[in-house]
Amino acid sequence: MKKYALVTGATSGIGKEIALKLTQKGFSVIAVGRNQAELTILSEKYGMIPNVCNLSNRDECVSLWEKYKEYDICTLVNCAGFGYVSDFDKISIDDDVKMANVNVLATQILTKLFSSSMKNGVILNVCSAAAFSPEPLMASYAASKSYVYSYSLAVDYELKRRNSNVRVRILCPGAVSTPFEKTAKVKNPLPSISAERCAEYAIKAIEGKRTVTVTGFKMKASRFLSRIAPEKLVLAVQYKIQGSKR
Ligand SMILES: NC(=O)c1ccc[n+]([C@@H]2O[C@H](COP(=O)([O-])OP(=O)(O)OC[C@H]3O[C@@H](n4cnc5c(N)ncnc54)[C@H](OP(=O)(O)O)[C@@H]3O)[C@@H](O)[C@H]2O)c1
Repeated sequence: MKKYALVTGATSGIGKEIALKLTQKGFSVIAVGRNQAELTILSEKYGMIPNVCNLSNRDECVSLWEKYKEYDICTLVNCAGFGYVSDFDKISIDDDVKMANVNVLATQILTKLFSSSMKNGVILNVCSAAAFSPEPLMASYAASKSYVYSYSLAVDYELKRRNSNVRVRILCPGAVSTPFEKTAKVKNPLPSISAERCAEYAIKAIEGKRTVTVTGFKMKASRFLSRIAPEKLVLAVQYKIQGSKR
């Protein structure tokens, strides 16, 4: 019997690498994105099932679930997302709303709906190290990832308490080389890992038992430090880091 994986953000960067790895593992991958040309390539070259969907639209998120709810989906990867490095008031309200819709609401809607229709398996929500603390000059993006982190952790706990066969996993990458920076209109001076390496962490997260996977020792250390350092210091350090990207 065919086992399906649905991957959002499959047209680029981390999501694309995760989709390729799941294909190699024998999943029939439903690739979701807006970029029709890239979806066609994924379909023709790798046999993925292409699905155009604008995840900033609530109704399109619900329709995506309605289309695939009867499929035996055992892996859902919510990877679509983007952010901006900017003074908070220089981002237009439209861009803020689109970002919140894709990063937060689409992830929330798809987690809620697919956890009800999946018989078993894993929902991997691609979060970020940005979830660990507020980030001045990347305020809405970091806040969106904190929301996803908190929501995913809580939902996973509820599912565990219900003895559900579906579990939620959270992937928190640090910097990854992808077109993300182009969208964010930044040049990240910090060391980054490749999208392929990040996808390896994603597969481990899907197959493993840990709820939260943080990519690499440096990111784990920065998570620990952001927990114990005074908030004022964390804000000042983040302001400097984000400022250096502009
Ligand atoms: N790169 C990093 O340093 C980094 C670090 C931590 C976390 N992350 C997270 O990793 C995830 C993937 O980012 P990436 O680095 O791989 O960036 P990317 O290469 O720019 O990919 C972003 C993906 O999101 C999809 N997307 C954006 N808006 C969409 C919309 N309205 N509807 C449907 N799909 C939409 C894009 O597909 P279409 O263009 O086809 O719509 C694309 O496939 C994001 O959630 C990001 O926050 C990235």
